[in-house]
Amino acid sequence: TGAITIDPGYKNSGSCKSEITFLDGELGILRYRGYSIEELAESADFLEVSYLLIFGELPTTEQLEKFENDIKKHSLVNEEMKSIIDGFPKTAHPMGVLSSLTSALTAFNPKSVNVDNEKEMYEAICKTIAKFLVIATWTYRKSMGYPLNYYDNTQGYVENFMQLMFKLPTQPYKASEVVINALDKLFILHADHEQNCSTSTVRMVGSSHAGLFASISAGVSALWGPLHGGANQAVLEMLEEINKDGGDTDKFLAKAKDKNDPFRLMGFGHRVYKNFDPRAKIIKKAANEVLGTLGVEDPVLEIAKKLEKAALEDEYFKARNLYPNVDFYSGIIYRALGIPTDMFTVMFAIGRLPGWIAQWKEMRENKEPIGRPRQVYTGHPLREYKSKK
Ligand code: CMC
Repeated sequence: TGAITIDPGYKNSGSCKSEITFLDGELGILRYRGYSIEELAESADFLEVSYLLIFGELPTTEQLEKFENDIKKHSLVNEEMKSIIDGFPKTAHPMGVLSSLTSALTAFNPKSVNVDNEKEMYEAICKTIAKFLVIATWTYRKSMGYPLNYYDNTQGYVENFMQLMFKLPTQPYKASEVVINALDKLFILHADHEQNCSTSTVRMVGSSHAGLFASISAGVSALWGPLHGGANQAVLEMLEEINKDGGDTDKFLAKAKDKNDPFRLMGFGHRVYKNFDPRAKIIKKAANEVLGTLGVEDPVLEIAKKLEKAALEDEYFKARNLYPNVDFYSGIIYRALGIPTDMFTVMFAIGRLPGWIAQWKEMRENKEPIGRPRQVYTGHPLREYKSKK
């Protein structure tokens, strides 16, 4: 074997070839299967984009209908899963519960672990898309002490998210068009982002031929961190703190620049985008529109705009090419839709699910080898064992 090159954080190492997502960080371009994110976010719906990512082409009406129906068929979650949920304290973070529940799905659907042919793979995919949405909302219902809701087969996938979250036992629930369109857009914008931390995790775990649920569960854990998907919760908490503190954005900007202070401007900076994040542009516009249409006045939106403007004019941020990322404005929309702050990263996970699945499927179909990086050992040379007991 030759010399080993180390690349901490894989800043400049490719792990695979992929046909799914194209990203140009210099030009701020993002495309799913060749379609621009701007067009998809504007006109497509989430299951259509999920199909596109997973199967490579936009679905025809019949294909999409079949896909939706196959998802519906698998929307029941084993009742025994509820006793697992009951074991968590109400205060548990929904992402931790979601990761555990996703992993637990393996126990109730053991057939989904071995996917030796296209049919089995398709079934595992539909099961994951259906059940993940249900358990994601159950993490919230449980934390509130509310009875759990079930998938309503008369409603669409995104509509179902809202009724699963908010339906009261005695009343019918129908989400408004504005809300559904906003969620469709947000989920589409989060649906894939090539080899990011959680997706690389899904591919890595899946490369040992662990099942889909186990791989996705690992992806949820990776996404939870504040440097990744957890940033959307952190952004809102930061904006609220600035608001409580009197709205002094300069003070927080100074903290973010201070190298002795671990504080970072959450929702700013990106490993790959060094000019702008195209998703952030779309989300900022959507935040203005959604809050305007719903008639929501939220002081943190003004603080976010003020903070963004100040950071973009600041030498520190300019020199490091730090721009708002997808997480900067998304939480403001979630909040306007009534979604609690600690569910924001779960929203990201629901959106990213088709991307994780598509990447896992590609990895399996390409028969990629097990992921196993090398290292350069820097510890002790051989030493003689002398007990210190
Ligand atoms: N606030 C202040 N300084 C920053 C920030 C920030 N948000 N982001 C990067 N920097 C500085 C960093 O200190 C470093 O400075 P120096 O060169 O003087 O040491 C320089 O910019 C480069 O940063 P890095 O940490 O080496 O860059 P990275 O590619 O390893 O990290 C990042 C990328 C996204 C983790 C980072 O920008 C960050 O921590 N941002 C805040 C968290 C966040 O918003 N994450 C969401 C990412 S986007 C979507 C997602 O994955 O969820």
